[in-house]
Amino acid sequence: MAGRRPFVRLPTDVYPVNYGLSLKPDLVDFTFEGKLEAAVEVTQATNQIVMNCADIDIITASFVPEGGEGEEINATGFNYQNEDEKVTLSFPSALQKGSGKLKIDFVGELNDKMKGFYRSKYASPSGEVRYAAVTQFEATDARRAFPCWDEPAIKATFDITLIVPMDQVALSNMNVIDREPYLEDDDLVKVKFATTPIMSTYLVAFVIGEYDFVEAQSSDGVLVRVYTPIGKAEQGKFALEVATKTLPFYNDYFNVPYPLPKIDLIAIADFAAGAMENWGLVTYRETALLIDPKNSCSSSRQWVALVVGHELAHQWFGNLVTMEWWTHLWLNEGFASWIEYLCVDHCFPEYDIWTQFVSADYTRALDLDALDNSHPIEVNVGHPSEVDEIFDAISYSKGASVIRMLHNYIGDTDFRKGMNAYLLKFQHKNASTEDLWDCLEQASGKPIAAVMSSWTKQMGFPIIVVDQEQQGEDRVVKLSQKKFCASGPHNGEECPSWMVPISICTSEDPSCTKLKVLLDRPEITITLNNIGTDKWVKINPGTVGFYRIQYSSAMLDSLLPGVRDLTLPPVDRLGLQNDLFSLSRAGIISTVEVLKLMEAFINEPNYTVWSDLSCNLGVLSSLLSHTDFHEEIQEFIRDLFTPIGLKLGWDSKQGEGHLDALLRGLVLGKLGKAGHKPTLEEARRRFKDHVEGKQTLPADLRSPVYLTVLKHGDSATLDTMLKLHKQADMQEEKNRIERVLGAISAPDLIQKVLNFALSEEVRPQDTVSVIGGVAGSSKQGRKAAWKFVKDNWEELHNRYQGGFLISRLIKLSVDGFAIDKMAAEVKSFFESHRAPAAERTVQQCCENILLNAAWLQRDASDIHHYLLQRKAPPV
Ligand code: BES
Ligand code: ZN
Repeated sequence: MAGRRPFVRLPTDVYPVNYGLSLKPDLVDFTFEGKLEAAVEVTQATNQIVMNCADIDIITASFVPEGGEGEEINATGFNYQNEDEKVTLSFPSALQKGSGKLKIDFVGELNDKMKGFYRSKYASPSGEVRYAAVTQFEATDARRAFPCWDEPAIKATFDITLIVPMDQVALSNMNVIDREPYLEDDDLVKVKFATTPIMSTYLVAFVIGEYDFVEAQSSDGVLVRVYTPIGKAEQGKFALEVATKTLPFYNDYFNVPYPLPKIDLIAIADFAAGAMENWGLVTYRETALLIDPKNSCSSSRQWVALVVGHELAHQWFGNLVTMEWWTHLWLNEGFASWIEYLCVDHCFPEYDIWTQFVSADYTRALDLDALDNSHPIEVNVGHPSEVDEIFDAISYSKGASVIRMLHNYIGDTDFRKGMNAYLLKFQHKNASTEDLWDCLEQASGKPIAAVMSSWTKQMGFPIIVVDQEQQGEDRVVKLSQKKFCASGPHNGEECPSWMVPISICTSEDPSCTKLKVLLDRPEITITLNNIGTDKWVKINPGTVGFYRIQYSSAMLDSLLPGVRDLTLPPVDRLGLQNDLFSLSRAGIISTVEVLKLMEAFINEPNYTVWSDLSCNLGVLSSLLSHTDFHEEIQEFIRDLFTPIGLKLGWDSKQGEGHLDALLRGLVLGKLGKAGHKPTLEEARRRFKDHVEGKQTLPADLRSPVYLTVLKHGDSATLDTMLKLHKQADMQEEKNRIERVLGAISAPDLIQKVLNFALSEEVRPQDTVSVIGGVAGSSKQGRKAAWKFVKDNWEELHNRYQGGFLISRLIKLSVDGFAIDKMAAEVKSFFESHRAPAAERTVQQCCENILLNAAWLQRDASDIHHYLLQRKAPPV
C-alpha cells in the first residue's frame, strides 16, 4: 500500500525454543488473561526483544537468564508498533548471549471477528444463547492471542494450559496430560496438554465450549474424534469414517506416520474459512463436517469428504513440513487441494471426483490466470494484508492444477518417491518450492525445476495453437505456444513462454496417450506414424495440461462427432467445451460457435460435463441479462436441458448413485430457474407438500425446488422460505436457503433479502453468500446488491476486518457488470474505501467488467440472431 513502511521480518537475535502458555478465557466478559513463559535463545547480546503482538495489552514482562544467578530483569518499556503488529520490549540492561526465560503477563479480548482468539455464538439444545472460545491463527493472527514470533519458519514446542469452567470441553493440539482444580476459583479447572512437536505458531489452536463427540481408532493407531454441537454426535459419523480411512491412506502414500497420538475434528459455529488444519485439532465450519443421514444432500457429503481429505493432508504437508515463508503458501494449499481429490477418489471411487476437479479447480484457475491482474503462484508477500490476499484460486486451484500436470508428467511412482524424500528430509523443518523440485528431480531424473519454474514463477499460461497435415500414412502436427489472455492472444513484444508437457491421443484409443513431448520452445512439429485420414488427433487427453487449445477448424470439426456420440471421454468433452467457451470470451472465436457446440451435448449423460456446461451457460445468461433478449437464452437453456430432465424425472430410481443425485438436482434447478413450465409446476406442488408436512422433500431436491419457487415466487413464497430458515436446526439447511433467496424477483423483496443478509438470523460468515446470491440472480439483483454493499460498506468491512471474506464479497457483488462505466465506478469506490486485502480482487473485477462489456459489444447481435433463427421454421 502506498506510504507504508517496507515490511521487515522479525530479527533473529532472540528466538523461541518452547512456549509455556497458560490462558484463562472469560466467556461472560469476553476477555482473556494470559501468561507466557517462553524458553528463548539469545544469539547476540541485546537489550530489546521484538515480537509480534496485536490487540493485546502486556501487563508485565521480564527476562530470567538461565543458570545460577537467577536474576530477573524487568522490561521497562513495551513499545507497540501497531501497524506492524509488533511490540518491542526494552530492558534496562543487556540480555546476554545464551538461554533464558521470557515471562509475559497479558490480557486480550475474545473478539467477534473470527480471527485470533475469538468467541463463537451457538444455541444450547434448549435454545439459550451460549458462547465458545475458539481460535483461527492462519495466516498471521496467533499474535492476537499471545505475544509470539508469528512467522512460519520460527518453530518451537508448545506446552499449553487452559483454565476453563469445569463442565466445558477444553481442547488443544495435543492430548490432555493433567486436569487439576484451579485454586482461586472452585468452578474452574486447569487443563494441561502434552508438549507439541516443534511447530509454527499459525497451527496452534484451542477450543473451549460444550460439545459431544464420536470416536474411533484408525488402523494405524491414531485416536480420532469428531466433536459436534451437543445432541448432534450422530452427524459426526460420516466425517469420522472419512478421517479414519484417510489417515492410513496418507500414512501409506507419504510413507511417514502421523506423529501425534490423537486428532480431533471439530465443528465451530462461527468460522470464516471452510476449515483449518491446526495440528491435531482441525477446526471446521459446521457445514464442512456435519452430515445428517436424512437431511444432508449428496453435494454436502462430497464437500465434507474433500475438506477432511484436504485438512488431513496438511498434517504432513504444511504441519510436519512447513513453507519457509508465505511466498510458498501455494505449496501448502496447492498440494492439499490436489491430494484431497486423490484421497476422495480412494475413499469414494463412485464420485468420479477427478472429472469434477477439472470443472471445479482447473477451469477456475485458467479463468482467473488469464487476467492481466493475475499473479504468479510464487509471489513476494510481506504485510499481513498481502498474505491474506493470496489465499485465492491461483494458490489453490492453479497450484493444484500444476501439481496434477507434474504428477502426470513424472508418473505416480517417481512422484511418491520424491514426496517421501522431501517429507523425510524436511520434517519438523521448513522448505521452499525449490526444495520440492530438487527432491522430485532426484527421484525422476527429469528437469523438474526448469519445467515447473515456468509455471510457478511467471503468471498466466499458454494457448497452444494446433494444425495438422496428412503426409501419406502419417499425420504431421504443428504446435506453437503464446500467452493466453482473457482479452485475446498476447500481442506484446516479449511473449513469455512455458515448458509445456504435451500429450496427444487419437481416435484409435481416445483415452490413451499416443505420444508425449515437452514443448520447450515457441513451436514444434511432430509426426504421428500410421494415422489414416479418417482418424482424428486430439491434444491434452484427460485435460491435464494447464493450457488452452486452439485447433484449426478442420481438426475441431473432426473432434465434434466424438462429443455427440460420446466416444470422446467425459473429461475431454468437458475440456473442449470449456476451451471454446473461454476462446469466445476472448474474442478468438464467435460465441455462436460455442452455442452450436453446446447443442451437440444433447445426449450427454455425465454429471460433471453438464455441470460445467451449466456454469458457462449461467455466465452467458448473466451477460445477456444486460440485453433485451434475455428470454431467448432462457429458451435455449430450457431446450438443451429438457431431454435430460425428462430422462431423469423427479424421483430417484433403484440402483442410482451419487452422481445421478447430483445430476438430477442440477438439471431440475436449471430448468426451474429458466422457467420451464412443467418443472415449475411440479416444484410448486412438491414445495407445498413439503411445507404442509405431507411429504418432506428429499435433501437432494431441496435446493432446486427452493430456487425454482423463489425465482417465480412472491412475498408469500419468501416469507415461507424465511420461516423454513428460522425453523431449520441444521446449518446446512439454513445455508441452502440463504444461497437461493436472491433468486426472488420483485425489487422490494430483493431489498428484504439484502437486509436479512445482515440480520442476526444469518451467521457472519454466510452474509457474503446471501448478498452474492442476490447479485448473481438477476439484473435488478446485481444493481441492488452493489448499492447495498456501498451503503453498508463500513459495517461489512468491519465485520471481516479485511480478510478473505471481503474479497469474496467484492467479487460476487461486482464481477457480473458489463458496462465500462461500472468498472470506473467500482475502481473509484475502492479508492476512497480502502480494502487492503482485496486490492488485487478489485483490479481483477474491474478487468472482468471491461471484458464483459467488450464481449457483449462484439457478440450480442450475432448471438441474438442465432437464437432467433434457431427457432425459425426452415424456408
Ligand atoms: N489453511 C486453510 C484455511 C485458511 C484459509 C486459513 C484462508 C486462512 C485463510 C485450509 O487448509 C483450507 O484451505 N481450507 C479451505 C477448504 C479446502 C477444502 C479448500 C477453505 O477454508 O476454503
Ligand atoms: Zn488448505
